[in-house]
Amino acid sequence: MLIPLILSGGSGTRLWPVSRKNLPKQFLSLMGHGTLFQQTVERTRVLPDVTAPIVVASEDHRFLAAEQLMELGIEGSTIVLEPVARNTAPAIALGALHAIDKDPDALLLVLPADHLIGDTEHFCEAVEQALPAARDGWLVTFGIRPDRPETGFGYIRRGDGIGEHAFQVAQFVEKPALKTAQAYLEDGGYDWNSGMFLFRASRYLEELAQHAPAMMETVKVAHASAATDLDFVRVDADAFARVPDNSIDYAVMEKTRRAAVIPVSVAWSDIGSWSALWLAGVRDAEGNLRDGDTIAVNTTNSLLRSHKRHLLATVGVDNLIVVTTPDATLVAHRDAAQDVKQVVEELKASG
Ligand code: GDD
Ligand code: MG
Repeated sequence: MLIPLILSGGSGTRLWPVSRKNLPKQFLSLMGHGTLFQQTVERTRVLPDVTAPIVVASEDHRFLAAEQLMELGIEGSTIVLEPVARNTAPAIALGALHAIDKDPDALLLVLPADHLIGDTEHFCEAVEQALPAARDGWLVTFGIRPDRPETGFGYIRRGDGIGEHAFQVAQFVEKPALKTAQAYLEDGGYDWNSGMFLFRASRYLEELAQHAPAMMETVKVAHASAATDLDFVRVDADAFARVPDNSIDYAVMEKTRRAAVIPVSVAWSDIGSWSALWLAGVRDAEGNLRDGDTIAVNTTNSLLRSHKRHLLATVGVDNLIVVTTPDATLVAHRDAAQDVKQVVEELKASG
């Protein structure tokens, strides 16, 4: 059986002021139909032999996740609630332990809840192409052709072929420095790690036990002490607090010898910041991405998003991000979109 594991624990601070602590970006409708989380779940429904998803999310967002699944008419899903965030490696381990309880041979399709994917058909085709390697025990990732030296992604160098579609991963480098990313781009033999993975749940846990044994042990204890309540699986707060914090990329993918990659050519975007949304969206002839009530005079290459019935007007500006909500307005240079998270840090610090 193929179980989608939806990672929904991120906080999306770079998309402030629309993305907030109580309503982070994955649960918002930023582009297209439904929220990013719902689009991610919907994408999995036509896969062969697929079950309802396991969602791993923060305890704070349990009703958002449950309601949004209900809106899709999905039944039989499991929502694993993390009392604190420990990054993706433990979140996937929790999901994998639950998957194994359902089926010891379960294949896990790990999907971040905050990606935009242009074409569901191509996406499903790639997952089907990845199935043989995953069944054979490979940890398969989906590789995206890079078009810029992005430093927020993992880079994968393709090695020898395995079967018809997959390649061994010769090297996996998570979030390289800019110079290294530029060299990889020029080299041409590197793909971005999309952050989506397909593997046997049991294989992931074996690799975790080998490369991050303390994490494996502490997650096992947290899983064993979890309590089930309706669709929710509540992980014990004290037990989970003892789990070390790390991402799957650093903890497992950089270290394992059994990583494989399926190159995919879908329009894909990690909606990490307002500039990523601008890049992914359909812009007008002036290069503006506009949402809501906006007037743009002599305005170019900008993202303008106004809250309902609130008119947003710009005159004579270029490369700006302007986002309004009922209680906050953001004005940022498009090149500084990554730094929006500093606003949230300041807000947190000032209580
Ligand atoms: N449940 C849960 N718990 N989910 C989490 C947690 C957590 O503690 N931390 C992050 N997530 C979710 C996020 O919501 C997101 O959907 C996904 O896991 C990935 O986390 P990010 O924090 O967005 O990772 P990243 O973008 O920096 O890097 C990853 O994705 C890139 C592609 O978008 C890596 O896999 C990179 O190698 C990859 O290139
Ligand atoms: Mg991300």
